[in-house]
Amino acid sequence: MSSQLRPESIAISAGRPPVSADAPLNNSIELSATFHAGGEIGYGRYGNQTWSSLESAIGALEMGETLIFSSGMAAISAVFATLSAGATVTASHHGYSGTMALLKTLEASGHIKVRYIDVANTDEVISALPGTDLLWLESPTNPTLDVADLPVIIPAAKEVGALVALDNTFATPLNQRPLEMGADIVMHSVTKYLAGHSDILMGSLSTNEASIFEKLSNARKLGGAIAGPFEAWLALRGLRTFPLRFAQAQINAAVIAERLSVHPKVSKVHFPGLASDPNHLRAKSFMNGFGAMLSFTIDGSSADADKVCAASTLITQATSLGGVESLWERRRRWPAESSTVPENLIRLSVGCENVEDLWNDIESALGQF
Ligand SMILES: Cc1ncc(COP(=O)(O)O)c(C=O)c1O
Repeated sequence: MSSQLRPESIAISAGRPPVSADAPLNNSIELSATFHAGGEIGYGRYGNQTWSSLESAIGALEMGETLIFSSGMAAISAVFATLSAGATVTASHHGYSGTMALLKTLEASGHIKVRYIDVANTDEVISALPGTDLLWLESPTNPTLDVADLPVIIPAAKEVGALVALDNTFATPLNQRPLEMGADIVMHSVTKYLAGHSDILMGSLSTNEASIFEKLSNARKLGGAIAGPFEAWLALRGLRTFPLRFAQAQINAAVIAERLSVHPKVSKVHFPGLASDPNHLRAKSFMNGFGAMLSFTIDGSSADADKVCAASTLITQATSLGGVESLWERRRRWPAESSTVPENLIRLSVGCENVEDLWNDIESALGQF
């Protein structure tokens, strides 16, 4: 039933318990480390009904069989755990800093070989593909919002026999559905937009290939990075309003990006929704929207950027993204952030507050230097 519905309806109706008189509308938080013998689950590290509700809801949105994990990084690690020793991975030379650190660690230990590419440079990506076992994509990228030409790159990778996995955290299934475009695995930091309230960490992987699902499920069983049932329940509660939250956050982000782009103290804005952004036409050609993440560099130093982030009263200075509340930070305050990211770049996760209140807060914070 759910797959014929539109995402706004799927988010509300998927993953509900079967209908019968006096059955509850919501699944309960199943707190059990083990299960009576003879069934399909068997043990709490192998499955849980509360997980299954969330998995079927995310799966209906991404159109694939889904597994949830204890965090986005646990989900990413499970993908890499399925690779044979010495496998060749092609990945962006910048993206979420945790993913980059994991790639570097696995490379240093000899587990994988990595070819780093600029995801926005399609020719460069395509030239790196022959001999690739896994193409790991993140698009738009964190934190500079580069957009990969997915309708060109995914088929090219499949043609050379590479597995294609995509971190869809920034775009969400509302803006792009990579499995429909031919990707093998789509990953989320559910921590962000899908759960949406900055109160839990969780990750997910979705796929339509039974053999890949089996490998990923095994990686979760053996790696043991499972989600807590309470967190899974909270994530599903959050997911019910994800399309509403995301729609409002996108509207706010577009207004703020436009205003930042003409602000005298801002030197550059990264937001694919701006007509002047180098990713704009590409994003417009295949994405349903431009998202609610943006980043900008100020006409000042890294110390000035720190002052700006500390001065806001409505926007919280904190890492992470995708919650109802707006968050910002200077990304290079993290030593793991790529040196290609400017020292004075501020990443802003635009939330659902009133946009004029947000803008007043930004303007006044920019007045601090
Ligand atoms: C794009 C992206 N992917 C993956 C992750 C990792 O997710 P988690 O923090 O849930 O482990 C993050 C975290 O910020 C992220 O921004």
